[in-house]
Amino acid sequence: MNRWHLLNISLSLLFLLISQSLLAQPKFIGNEKCASCHKVDFASWEVSSHAKAFNILKPGKRKAAKKLADLDPNKDYTRDKKCIKCHVTGYKKKGGFKSIEKTPKMAGVGCESCHGPGGEYKDLHEDNPYGFEKSAAEPLGQLYGEDDEAVCKACHGHEGAPHHEGLDQKYQFNWQAALKQQESYHIKKSGKSQFSF
Ligand code: HEC
Ligand code: HEC
Ligand code: HEC
Ligand code: HEC
Repeated sequence: MNRWHLLNISLSLLFLLISQSLLAQPKFIGNEKCASCHKVDFASWEVSSHAKAFNILKPGKRKAAKKLADLDPNKDYTRDKKCIKCHVTGYKKKGGFKSIEKTPKMAGVGCESCHGPGGEYKDLHEDNPYGFEKSAAEPLGQLYGEDDEAVCKACHGHEGAPHHEGLDQKYQFNWQAALKQQESYHIKKSGKSQFSF
């Protein structure tokens, strides 16, 4: 092999590495990984409606709301591709929901639906027990639904959803009012560094 070949091979390897790191999305790691540090948030999330959002796709659940949207209240929508993306965590993404058999723990709207896939920012959290700057977390994929309505609108924008403001005004999404309904996701602690290991 002459040195032109070698140069060629190393250039293509370099290109591959760069393109992969640019395209790479952080991996979803699951609620329990977050819970190992954020016990309090996890406990109040677990009983919230977001945590249980997968169950309402099952037959017999929310019959009236399904009828209102011309859905069949006795049908199982838990495998319907048109539905699951907004009722689970990380559908079709690395580490995210695939099916209820393969990834039961990614069913429901979990931590990473609102905070972004944790594969990379979890290390920042681990290394900074007294907090860190958002500007350090964001490049690692952490999202802030409190600063950016689009985080919530990914689902509450109702794109392709059977329930939306055209069907009934109650489905109108008011971002600031929704943020105040902390019991729908988890009760926020006040102040910094109050997590418990
Ligand atoms: C090794 C422990 C650890 C793990 C695992 C962990 N965190 Fe954290 N997290 C922390 C610490 C420490 C802080 C900073 C102190 C604080 O705000 O309580 C923090 C802060 C946060 C904040 C506040 C961010 C800010 O800018 O104020 C959010 C939101 C958060 N974590 C979500 C998550 C989510 C979601 C996961 C799982 C994907 C996760 N964390 C995994 C320890 C951890
Ligand atoms: C674009 C995201 C999205 C898609 C796609 C989606 N949903 Fe939802 N779904 C939501 C959101 C957000 C809510 C919360 C209600 C609201 O919008 O205020 C919800 C609420 C519901 C509810 C409860 C409504 C109530 O008033 O109790 C049912 C039942 C439901 N969805 C079933 C389905 C079914 C079945 C499908 C597929 C045919 C589906 N969803 C597709 C986002 C979505
Ligand atoms: C429906 C959206 C949603 C879900 C689901 C959610 N969070 Fe949050 N969380 C928020 C918002 C909004 C804030 C305010 C800061 C921000 O914009 O990220 C927040 C703040 C936090 C904070 C910092 C404030 C505090 O409580 O001390 C932590 C830590 C946190 N979340 C952890 C978690 C963990 C762990 C889970 C899963 C068990 C989770 N969150 C699930 C929306 C959500
Ligand atoms: C992955 C999709 C998804 C994301 C992202 C999401 N939600 Fe939701 N949200 C839902 C679904 C599905 C429901 C319906 C739960 C039910 O009716 O039981 C819901 C319900 C709600 C409700 C009504 C809860 C109740 O108990 O009636 C509020 C308030 C809400 N979301 C606020 C937010 C806020 C604020 C954000 C962003 C920080 C957010 N959501 C992000 C899917 C999502």
